[in-house]
Amino acid sequence: MTDEDKEYSARIIGWLEQSYVAADERGDIFGGSGSSGDMAHWETRRRVIASAFDRDGTWLDVGCANGLLMATLQEWVAERGCAIKPYGLELSARVAERARIRYPQFADRIWTGNVMSFEPAIRFDFVTAISDFVAPNRCAAMVQRIAGLYLKRGGRVILSCYGPGGFITATKASADDPRRFIVEAGLRVAGYAEHRYKASNLVKVRTAWADIE
Ligand SMILES: C[S@@+](CC[C@H](N)C(=O)[O-])C[C@H]1O[C@@H](n2cnc3c(N)ncnc32)[C@H](O)[C@@H]1O
Repeated sequence: MTDEDKEYSARIIGWLEQSYVAADERGDIFGGSGSSGDMAHWETRRRVIASAFDRDGTWLDVGCANGLLMATLQEWVAERGCAIKPYGLELSARVAERARIRYPQFADRIWTGNVMSFEPAIRFDFVTAISDFVAPNRCAAMVQRIAGLYLKRGGRVILSCYGPGGFITATKASADDPRRFIVEAGLRVAGYAEHRYKASNLVKVRTAWADIE
């Protein structure tokens, strides 16, 4: 992990930790994952990620926050006929603790750590991550690290970019394209999905994935 990675992650902790913990403690499950609104709002912004799952397997949600995506994506993928077992990795120890309290069934599968330094004891069939976990010039390195250290052979890295109002991206007009980072990492894009706002046609979420040989 570079000094730039450390500084970037420290800024993220300062920016979101207290608000995520406070939201989760007062029962705002969506705020505890950096979102707002209700389940319908959450679902329209996150269900698109389920498109990347096409078989049973273990799944690590990097940046699991209070665990909401672990619980909901597992259900959406089950509707597609696939059974995935969720694991979580979270930068903030305080936020990770909220996930363990909220989802005791996942508690022993949630670790605290930075994706750029954590070394998982096991490897996964699927790993999801968001481009904003690192600076843009470090995203390909993050994808390579996930591919080399986190995934089983044949496993799938699933990278999402969130757009306006999203994680660190409130000022962006539209989501970045994760396919660019996957190609920069030297991998071949195996699939892509996106969710657009109906009114403006701006892209809220882009998700792309690559399989590791
Ligand atoms: C917007 S939430 C994501 C919640 C959920 N996974 C989703 O996609 O909606 C981002 C979470 O990622 C965590 N995070 C940010 N950088 C990280 C890093 N380098 N390693 C691990 N987790 C990180 C943050 O602390 C925060 O809780």
